[in-house]
Amino acid sequence: MILVMGGAGYIGSHTVRHLLDNGYDVVVADNLIYGHREAVDERAKFVHADLLDRLSLENLFKNNKIDAVIHFAAFAYVGESVGEPEKYYYNNVIGTVNLLHAMLTHGVKKIVFSSTCATYGEPQYTPIDEKHQQAPINPYGRTKLMIEQIFADYERAYGLEHIALRYFNAAGCSADSKIGESHTPETHLIPLVLQAIGGKRKDIKVFGTDYDTPDGTCIRDYIHVEDLALAHRLAVEKLGTYNGCINLGTGIGTSVKEIITAAEEVSGKKCPTEYAPRRPGDPARLFADNTKAKEILGWQPKYTDIKDIIKTAWDWEINRKY
Ligand SMILES: NC(=O)c1ccc[n+]([C@@H]2O[C@H](COP(=O)([O-])OP(=O)(O)OC[C@H]3O[C@@H](n4cnc5c(N)ncnc54)[C@H](O)[C@@H]3O)[C@@H](O)[C@H]2O)c1
Repeated sequence: MILVMGGAGYIGSHTVRHLLDNGYDVVVADNLIYGHREAVDERAKFVHADLLDRLSLENLFKNNKIDAVIHFAAFAYVGESVGEPEKYYYNNVIGTVNLLHAMLTHGVKKIVFSSTCATYGEPQYTPIDEKHQQAPINPYGRTKLMIEQIFADYERAYGLEHIALRYFNAAGCSADSKIGESHTPETHLIPLVLQAIGGKRKDIKVFGTDYDTPDGTCIRDYIHVEDLALAHRLAVEKLGTYNGCINLGTGIGTSVKEIITAAEEVSGKKCPTEYAPRRPGDPARLFADNTKAKEILGWQPKYTDIKDIIKTAWDWEINRKY
């Protein structure tokens, strides 16, 4: 049985469905602080548990025969982490140490973890491979880097088997629109653009049009959430033969203006847009070298056309259930 910690959230809920579709037994644990109970597939068992409540973790492992853990549960708002670092170190780092404690107490040594391209900090070159220096520029990124380092120490001391997946920008929703992206507050570009198009927001703000990129706006690597889900299953199946980190991105860079244009084409509507100055801490380009994911996991992203990714998000946006 796989424990999906944070499995009521955006990426977790899509991974849960993918695991179930591929024959795995799944227990989802989440404190629902940001997650949605409705997002959890009814074929999975759901347990209300909190990383910061050691007793709830102890009961989780005592009552379920867990073979491996996929760990999504974290706070992930970069801006908030700058103003409230304690909240982030506590939930993300101490929470993960608690989870590892419960795992090891119950003889569970396998973990796949949600890391992030934010651990790289200011890009020194693109595409970014896993050898790129890790110098995160905010507490959120530092929590994820610390956890990767904790894994290496636990591997040496306790034989932990770990894969940290460093995602670039997760995007899109399930192809059948049953589940989707729903963050409160929402900070991700594609849902914000679609909400502006759908009239749920006044407009979309584009921060900076004078970057050294072809159209002057920032370039990011958008990876479909179902491609992420697939990579998590492949990573679980690889545990024990490979320990370390793997980038997850398409390797394709898309600018903010290109996202807006693609969203207008998909929806057939105009996106009210406001241009604003640059925000501090936004690099001009971030996209992945995904060679390692292909070689080690045998993974290949199915979604490589940004319009196909946005279409799944639009189908969800116009008929969202939570
Ligand atoms: N969304 C992205 O683009 C992206 C990019 C890189 C990395 N990540 C990482 O991927 C993971 C999942 O991201 P997401 O977008 O699905 O976020 P999300 O907020 O939708 O999901 C996180 C889930 O964890 C749960 N959670 C948080 N703290 C908890 C705790 N103490 N105990 C139990 N449950 C707790 C929340 O309720 C939520 O359901 C996060 O760790 C995030 O840092 C996301």
